[in-house]
Amino acid sequence: MSVRKLTALLAAGCLLASAGAAFAQGANGYPARPVTMIVPFAAGGPTDVVARIVGDHMSKTLGQQIIIENVTGAGGTTGATRAKRAANDGYTVIMGHMGTHAAAVPLYPNLAYDPVTDFEPIGVAAGTPILILAKKDFPAKDLSEFTKQLKANSATLNMAHAGVGSVSYTTCLLLGSILDVKPTEVPYKGTGPALNALMAGQVDYMCDQIVNVVSQVQGGTIRAYAIATEARNPALPDVPTTTEAGLPEYKVSAWNAVFAPKGTPQPVVDKLADALDKALSDETTRKRLLDLGSDLPEGDRRGPKALGQLVKSEVERWSKVIKAAGPGN
Ligand code: MLT
Repeated sequence: MSVRKLTALLAAGCLLASAGAAFAQGANGYPARPVTMIVPFAAGGPTDVVARIVGDHMSKTLGQQIIIENVTGAGGTTGATRAKRAANDGYTVIMGHMGTHAAAVPLYPNLAYDPVTDFEPIGVAAGTPILILAKKDFPAKDLSEFTKQLKANSATLNMAHAGVGSVSYTTCLLLGSILDVKPTEVPYKGTGPALNALMAGQVDYMCDQIVNVVSQVQGGTIRAYAIATEARNPALPDVPTTTEAGLPEYKVSAWNAVFAPKGTPQPVVDKLADALDKALSDETTRKRLLDLGSDLPEGDRRGPKALGQLVKSEVERWSKVIKAAGPGN
């Protein structure tokens, strides 16, 4: 065997040994420095709120700070692409959701990542029911008047959303396909800024995750016509369900979940999943999420396996919904 080949083999051997050693040391000593959690939308919105609440407690369990980095754009797919391409060493994770890790697939034919194969699922952080919302002086006293207004004037009504593929875009696309209306769409970097525009009356309505709007609805700065779940939400007991309000076919909830880049070592994935699980079992963290109307995963809805299955089924479900709704038709 040539000296050159022998040297190359030896070098490779050393490399493997050091990676193995680093992995063994890393997993044991993980995390040895703060962990970045990418939030693919603007600060102050629902995904940011959920990330900061669970991140607070995960930091305690991991013994290192979880630093939130807001990476906005393209309905959340810019941040998700950043997370896919990040080093799979456990120091970068993402708070993704039903949009970035399901609805984006049928909406972006050239999506730079595959939610099923390019990420290690860590676990669902919170289910987030969807509300049909409007500016406070929208000329409708209830959902049926609202839908009449929408059908009569959809071309002149402005619907806010957080970018194509976001939860607010996708869930209002579903509403639009049920009501057969196509409003003027106004995109924002997240529903945090979209909510500000709704409160200012710059846009007419939007569909959003409850965790973003509870206090505004309670304060009367925006209107909530209905919640798209089977039962009313204890955080907003006066808001009727879509069934009670006369639109039973509109039922939808979103979810926010933690993912790591593909190939993140299993012991590191286990530590992250354990930290998330402990956050979801912590009374204070639970109260903060429940007060915002979250639907917390329990039992076998928690953890990497459940999230992996959820992503697969949601990609299938939203592919059918979006094909039927036909954005751009
Ligand atoms: C946000 O955090 O702004 C939302 O999750 C955006 C969305 O998907 O509607």
